[in-house]
Amino acid sequence: MRTPILAGNWKMNKTVAEAEALVRAMIDPLVAIEGVDKVFCPPFMAIPAVARLVEGTPIGVGAQDMYWEESGAYTGEISPLMVAEFCRYVIIGHSERREHFGETDETVNNKIRAALQHGLVPIVCVGETLEQRDAGITDAWVSGQVEAALRGIPAEQVAGIIMAYEPIWAIGTGRAATAADAEHICGNVVRATITRLFGQTTADAVRIQYGGSVNSANAAELLAQPNVDGGLVGGASLKAEDFVAVVRAAVPA
Ligand code: 13P
Repeated sequence: MRTPILAGNWKMNKTVAEAEALVRAMIDPLVAIEGVDKVFCPPFMAIPAVARLVEGTPIGVGAQDMYWEESGAYTGEISPLMVAEFCRYVIIGHSERREHFGETDETVNNKIRAALQHGLVPIVCVGETLEQRDAGITDAWVSGQVEAALRGIPAEQVAGIIMAYEPIWAIGTGRAATAADAEHICGNVVRATITRLFGQTTADAVRIQYGGSVNSANAAELLAQPNVDGGLVGGASLKAEDFVAVVRAAVPA
């Protein structure tokens, strides 16, 4: 009942020319895959060019971050108005932003509110470190991140948010979570937390992605889990044939 959604997070990769070449190589095969929502999240500089290329197709465009104020003296930042000119989606709270750029649960919450106010669909990232996993506190940590991210947001708006469970130890390591672990966190932790806070109907509507070393070999099993509604794909989104294969693996059986 939830349409799977596959997003490519290109991170800090691809010049405009490289981005255009990558998109040109993927458009036709991706458009031919039905029943799956697809999103490209290029670096800011390449967003207008990518948006132009996918215009008129069902492929969506997302930013990888944004600030919450609409305008003003915030050197280096990008506002929701600017993102909304080109994008329908925006990734918020990626662990790399939390680790390297000082994102906190509070800034994540501010950004989610701003995204919703501007009609953007936030892709909200949560996930535990290896130390937290080894200490056995993954469930409580991730649940706390979900609660903090969504604090004060009305249930009807929560229903349209996309959550992304990305265990930090799985990002860029080639070591994805097992399908059982991904299902456990997406279902028994992320969706269960949303159910507790906002009710079953809202939780049933939220799409929850898994991210962390998703590739064409492991995508089908991960995406077949009932509570894994898609993927947030890093490395494998940078090569046309890899991303197309991952998206193909998401087609409901
Ligand atoms: P990788 O797919 O490269 O592990 O990256 C995952 C990620 O962080 C997507 O946001």
